[in-house]
Amino acid sequence: MFADDTPAHGTPADDTPPPPIGPSRTGPATLWQGRFTGAPADALAALNDSLGFDQRMFAEDIAVSRAHVSMLAAVGLLTDGERDDIVAALDEVEIEIAEGRMFWAPTDEDIHTAVERRATELCGAAAKMHTGRSRNDQVATDLRLWTRRAIDELTGLLLGLARTLAARAREAQSAGMRLPGYTHLQQAQPVGLAHHLAAHAWALLRDVERLGDARRRTDVSPLGAGALAGSTLPLDPSATAAELGFAAVFENSLDAVSDRDYVADTLFALAMSGIHLSRLGEELVLWSSAEFGFVVLDDAFATGSSMMPQKKNPDVAELARGKAGRLIGYLAGLLATLKGLPLAYNKDLQEDKEPLFDSIDTVRLVVLALDGLMQTVEFHAQAMAAGADDPFAAATDLAEWLVARGMPFRDAHGVIAGLVRRALDEPDVSSRPHRLTELVTTHPDLGPEAARLLAPGAAYLSRSTPGAGGPDAVAVQLERLDAALAAAGDAQAGR
Ligand code: ARG
Repeated sequence: MFADDTPAHGTPADDTPPPPIGPSRTGPATLWQGRFTGAPADALAALNDSLGFDQRMFAEDIAVSRAHVSMLAAVGLLTDGERDDIVAALDEVEIEIAEGRMFWAPTDEDIHTAVERRATELCGAAAKMHTGRSRNDQVATDLRLWTRRAIDELTGLLLGLARTLAARAREAQSAGMRLPGYTHLQQAQPVGLAHHLAAHAWALLRDVERLGDARRRTDVSPLGAGALAGSTLPLDPSATAAELGFAAVFENSLDAVSDRDYVADTLFALAMSGIHLSRLGEELVLWSSAEFGFVVLDDAFATGSSMMPQKKNPDVAELARGKAGRLIGYLAGLLATLKGLPLAYNKDLQEDKEPLFDSIDTVRLVVLALDGLMQTVEFHAQAMAAGADDPFAAATDLAEWLVARGMPFRDAHGVIAGLVRRALDEPDVSSRPHRLTELVTTHPDLGPEAARLLAPGAAYLSRSTPGAGGPDAVAVQLERLDAALAAAGDAQAGR
């Protein structure tokens, strides 16, 4: 049963029949067969082959081979004619793969093997293209190029979501929308909705920064390290690095082929971002509940129930929350894979790709869906203001009013706490806010002037320290947020 279900030679694990076998059937069984007399077992191939997932690096693999072949010609290990023929064959292989015309052979263990096998079928000189190179430095180079590109694309999407949050924040700011801020998920002090939305945007900007850090450590070429110890041939690693647009070249061949820090860095940045998206998702789940009633999701970003006709479910927000689990798992998994590895290359390192690819795909899906959700979500100003304008939410402000008139904060806290306690003694819940106002108005240290702090909107309007949640401070913050978003956008465009 397992043998039938398992792709035996690295084709994608789906129900499609194995692709037709190309002419290589008559060619060498594997790149390393010369050392062996026996053929590989199917179970070995099923476990070992990575073509099913590393195919998606085909463009990077071919770019690396082009750069390597140009360097080989430049140092005299290939003639210019051989170089041109091999590059033409590589161009053809790239088109075949891109157009879905590539015939994958059962001996194609991975994308490197497949490209070399096909290029050699097209051009005899391609038998020279692996000169001075190992799949160990090749795969590390391919994956760094892939990661660099994926980070750039994802950075753009994260900035897009942050820009959406900033735009909705501006809208909320002009409409004077406010909501209760929470600690311990208990209503605490009012803040502008703009402030709350911007808080998520700042977190996403840190994710972009973290991805930028990971990118910087990714941007180092390992090509030329060979299997582990460099080469006896006059290779020029700087030339291939420059041609592939790397910012730096490896310093140590052992480190070059063993280093997967950049994958771990990227997985951490993605897991952290997934956690931010999850926290935003969790709030949207809460806010869209009848109990909060702060938002109504657009139909395009909500789902229904197959049984309960009245339901509107926040699946996008829930999946934003749920997907964080796998992102954290991938990071933990890769770290565990790396922790016991001796230098240099070990096949364990093949386990770097699936977590990376799926983490990138997962964050991409979540960001795009959350961006659409945030663009279309409707905010319910009234439901939010009901909590934000509750006189109890201004309790700290009353204490601070006393402090401004000379009372030590601890005493002021005690005075207001006493009034709160008395108001809460009121058996009718709905009259408690009014009761608090009454107690403040008649208190000898407070009075009608202090009671004005309890008027609707007053507590929101008066939070004006730098970075605070009131409208004056938020106006400054939104300017700074726009500037930070523009700078992050420019940094990305300049790469
Ligand atoms: N598919 C392999 C990987 O992803 C390529 C490197 C193979 N190297 C080797 N020495 N067998 O790591």
